[in-house]
Amino acid sequence: ISLKPFNTFGIDKTARFFVAVKSINQLKEALKWAKSQNIKPLILGGGSNILLTKNQEKLVIKIEIEGINTALEEEKFYLIEAGAGVNWHEFVLIAIENGWAGIENLSLIPGTVGASPMQNIGAYGVEIKDVFSSLKALNRGTLEIEEFNAEQCQFGYRESIFKHELKGKYVICSVVFRLQKEPIFHTEYGAIQETLESNGIKELSIKAISDAVIEIRQSKLPDPKEIGNSGSFFKNPTISAVHFQDLKDEYPIIPGYPNEEGIKVPAAWLIEQCGWKGQRFGEIGVHGKQPLVLVNYGDGDGNEIKNLSEKIQQSVFEKFKINIHPEVNFL
Ligand code: EPU
Repeated sequence: ISLKPFNTFGIDKTARFFVAVKSINQLKEALKWAKSQNIKPLILGGGSNILLTKNQEKLVIKIEIEGINTALEEEKFYLIEAGAGVNWHEFVLIAIENGWAGIENLSLIPGTVGASPMQNIGAYGVEIKDVFSSLKALNRGTLEIEEFNAEQCQFGYRESIFKHELKGKYVICSVVFRLQKEPIFHTEYGAIQETLESNGIKELSIKAISDAVIEIRQSKLPDPKEIGNSGSFFKNPTISAVHFQDLKDEYPIIPGYPNEEGIKVPAAWLIEQCGWKGQRFGEIGVHGKQPLVLVNYGDGDGNEIKNLSEKIQQSVFEKFKINIHPEVNFL
């Protein structure tokens, strides 16, 4: 079958075998079948962080495990468990309706609950790790469910243990979030403040923040339903303070944000400086409002996008001596 409806880039590659699973038992059956046939499984969530470069000979298993429930209540928090297949943004909206605070800044991120800890999704000053309590994952070898706490997940910037040591070894089945009863608002981000102001918001609420984030994202990021894309294609690189100073001497306006490891530089700025912003090459291109996003206008091919991404990487390296790395997984 064609995987076009199952990846937000809208790339038309096929899967030789495909199954959607709605429960842990169905997932186990699918994994057993794949093993018995000697076919590799490929786990798919919302398909919002992948670039398909070839037809898949594997068994594509789409995770559709639903369900949201209050796992437990603490003095200041609700512990809410959501199935891996729950759509992320729908979960955010349900949280806002119920007054569960902490993920309003993460409104409108494409994908599923199950994929959210995988790469520690983040936006506008909040990351999953800030509200994460635990997750349950199926060990693909033993077919047993195991629980992971935040420390065991080894979260980093768009990173977790599931992208490294445990890559391909577990399937995330559900996630427990620790959401606040009394909201702790995150409005540090300039664009949020400006949008709240222009919306005439006097009293902060999680709904007002969510609305602002939705407005910002819609104004900058292409809607995957209209133009295929995977959000940010690259991660923002962190460089040494010395390297940053050298660049600053040459490019006084270069933006940079100090973190524990050095200075984080927006990849969008680097890519724009190399002249890529808004460039279109046939069916693919670089988004005109956010050059960190590569787009498929309709019939683009995964390999064309991969080639374009490599050219962008190369030009950024030549101009700034900075290596930028994809956030998207190539399949
Ligand atoms: N910039 C430009 N030109 C542009 C756009 C941006 O130079 O056309 C520079 C500006 O200096 C701007 C800076 O980039 O201040 C930051 O831009 P933006 O606020 O759009 O954020 P970002 O760093 O490009 C990251 C995440 C996004 C997340 C936003 C908001 C990564 C890889 N991306 O983008 O996440 O929504 O911050 O917090 O960290 C995603 O991961 O898929 C994603 C969309």
